[in-house]
Amino acid sequence: MSSSTSLRPLLHDNYDAIADALAGPGFIILDDAFNAGLTLGLIDVLAERADQLTRAGVGRAGDYQLNDSVRGDAIQWLEPGAAAVTEFLSAMDKLRGALNERLFLGLADYEAHFASYTPGAFYKKHRDAFLGQPGRKVSSVFYLNPDWDLAAGGELVLYDEAGEQELVRIAPECGRLVLFLSEDFPHEVLPARNARQSIAGWFRIKP
Ligand code: OGA
Ligand code: MN
Repeated sequence: MSSSTSLRPLLHDNYDAIADALAGPGFIILDDAFNAGLTLGLIDVLAERADQLTRAGVGRAGDYQLNDSVRGDAIQWLEPGAAAVTEFLSAMDKLRGALNERLFLGLADYEAHFASYTPGAFYKKHRDAFLGQPGRKVSSVFYLNPDWDLAAGGELVLYDEAGEQELVRIAPECGRLVLFLSEDFPHEVLPARNARQSIAGWFRIKP
């Protein structure tokens, strides 16, 4: 392998492995998913926008509500603009195409937001999508926490389809990308001692 090949972002080199994982276990954890420059660029953008994030709600349209007992994060939806954000969205769009080619998922778009959890904030066990309904098919979380203290909590916990058995606990370590089938895995964010930052996103099919 040439040195230029090994410098390529890991995500681009692993479309086959990602597709296999989504078709098999249904989830995958990728460390150093992007080059360090992009990850640091996203951290900078989020830091600049810290005071623009707004408290996230639960539910859509008609039954949208703020609910501290369910989720405590503040969010900002991503739009192309800042170079790092544009590059991230473009990389995720390439992944969307690669997954469609390999799995015939018919993913039509990708929506994502920055998310910031203050110490103690959590997101109770939930599903990102319900079986057979149009919308979110593949969930993604990309973590932006340099030097994350593994003793600080804040793990993402994936459960089996029934929501009873814990499958995996994932620390929100910087550069880590988690992908999972939105309909298949109830999941939760445990409270952390430290502030916890990420980009949560969803590949969707057209209704
Ligand atoms: C979400 C979510 C997981 C995480 O935003 O829907 O489940 O680890 N996030 O931040
Ligand atoms: Mn979720």
